[in-house]
Amino acid sequence: MCGIVGYVGLEQAAPVLLQGLGKLEYRGYDSAGIAVYQNGIFTIKTKGRLTDLKEKIKKEDITLSGKIGIGHTRWATHGAPSDVNSHPHSSENGRISVVHNGIIENYMELKEMLLKKGRKFVSETDTEIIAQLFDDCYNGDMVETMIEVIGKIRGAYALGVLCTEHPDQIVAVRKDSPLLVGLGEKENYIASDIPALLEYTRDYYLLEDNEIVLLKQNSVTLFDLNKKEIKKEVFHVTWDVSAAEKDGYDYFMMKEIVEQPEGLRKTIFPRLKEQAIQLDHISLTQQDVKNINKIHIVACGSAWHASIVGKYVIEKVSRIPVEVDLASEFRYRNPILQKNDLCIIVSQSGETADTLAALREAKKHGVRVLSIVNVVGSSIARESDDVLYTWAGPEIAVATTKGYSTQLSVMYLLALYFGAAKEHIGKEEMAKYIQDLKKVPEDVESLLSLEERIKTLAKEYAQSKDVFVIGRGIDYAAAMEGSLKLKEISYIHSEAYAAGELKHGTISLIEDGTLVVAIATQEALFEKLVSNIKEVKARGARVIAMAVEGNDDIEKVADEVFYIPKTNELFSASSTVVPMQLLAYYIAVERGCDVDKPRNLAKSVTVE
Ligand code: M6R
Repeated sequence: MCGIVGYVGLEQAAPVLLQGLGKLEYRGYDSAGIAVYQNGIFTIKTKGRLTDLKEKIKKEDITLSGKIGIGHTRWATHGAPSDVNSHPHSSENGRISVVHNGIIENYMELKEMLLKKGRKFVSETDTEIIAQLFDDCYNGDMVETMIEVIGKIRGAYALGVLCTEHPDQIVAVRKDSPLLVGLGEKENYIASDIPALLEYTRDYYLLEDNEIVLLKQNSVTLFDLNKKEIKKEVFHVTWDVSAAEKDGYDYFMMKEIVEQPEGLRKTIFPRLKEQAIQLDHISLTQQDVKNINKIHIVACGSAWHASIVGKYVIEKVSRIPVEVDLASEFRYRNPILQKNDLCIIVSQSGETADTLAALREAKKHGVRVLSIVNVVGSSIARESDDVLYTWAGPEIAVATTKGYSTQLSVMYLLALYFGAAKEHIGKEEMAKYIQDLKKVPEDVESLLSLEERIKTLAKEYAQSKDVFVIGRGIDYAAAMEGSLKLKEISYIHSEAYAAGELKHGTISLIEDGTLVVAIATQEALFEKLVSNIKEVKARGARVIAMAVEGNDDIEKVADEVFYIPKTNELFSASSTVVPMQLLAYYIAVERGCDVDKPRNLAKSVTVE
């Protein structure tokens, strides 16, 4: 939800800001803007993508010579995408300029207060209130003013502020929205995410909530809310710059689909010992696991889908009861959490607002929180008692692929870890599980070879009106992810259904030619699924089925079959998701959709 960049140095700021925003467009792409200081603050912004902003700069033939500036790419919350609602926003007198990621909850009351003081507003945004408020509170000192402002605002924010009276400074802060500081040679930066700055620096300060940073060309100073200086460790990034580049692929999504085997290997293998799972750096002992009464897994979107697979696998292997909640529901439903419960929080970005709030809710009840996170140093990672990282590398496409599949793999690891601690699996059984788990990356890799076949098939189904994805048990959980992938990037209406539930209403939607994707990997449920396929076929559906190699009987009922390698069926979701990702991708391409930036969406949802 919105990307922020700031630069102060000896070079022209605008190219750095535009370059950084290009890397953050995944966070929001309905408008973009920059403000640089050059004899006053000069702002240029527009509705649309970053390319529109670049066009506007070119068309208006503007010289942007300023060596300090802030930039923003937006996902609209308050006020529709428009030139005037785009960031940066200024105070009425032009003294202050602000970029903001997040939501100011009490903006109405602050607006009232500022209106009474005679201030006039031009936009519908909550951010303009911050610019005006900053100006209203301004006492000549940027840090002190920021402290006063954040004492008055409520909500989530990452802020970058410029002031005409301090043309050499940017002041910034974060609370519940990500922001980091990039440390350069005679230049310094702020940004919402590392890829924006990777070209310039590998050294960062990861800001904590309410830490204020004063950025100058030759210094970075951090303060707490009492204006006391804070010292921080530098976080050094070791990934390759190409990890955040498309590397010749048309879209990040395809690159990330192809990167899944590698991410899985990095996530799984270092945690496998000969006959045991070793989860380094987590404080949860075998005795703690023995004492677990219940597990609550909480997440949003695809991470929630991975959690549902996790429930099936953890319950099966460890016999610990698992409840899975949507974070947006969990936080408001007054969940019953007991002392010996464990809360598992799952999030690729580690910044999803509802998921972060759910984590805090669990902690408020005194429950231990273990999180599964991809972004190192993100809010969720920092606030959890224990973190298990998914080593997928940076995920840029809005539709998650490698993020989801590596989350699944951590669920498997946890299930086995819990199963062993609870003494539900013996050494031999564990050795077999480990052997099967080692095969997961290569199975995923082998399924990538379906690409050409799926590309052809996508042409046939690209104009579908509705697509249903059905399965039972783990296959139903996998169906949810397949269905989400398709609808979010191709805009085809799609629903996932527990195959046995279809006839309780939804089957009335099946008509001649409706596409049904049926997943049938669970041996004990195979025949039942075949019956469900027959039911939809009898009503005119076209069926693409997925089954385990050797179960050729399915060819008698389905129009098209994808086989997944024979393996432990508890791990089947890792395989079945691959053809669905490829199908969604190629259908979206066929329909001319912008695969990496689907309409109305943003990668990390840092608002409720
Ligand atoms: O970063 P998170 O894993 O917390 O994000 C959760 C969801 O917003 C995310 O999975 C979303 O559903 C994706 N667009 C799915 O592709």
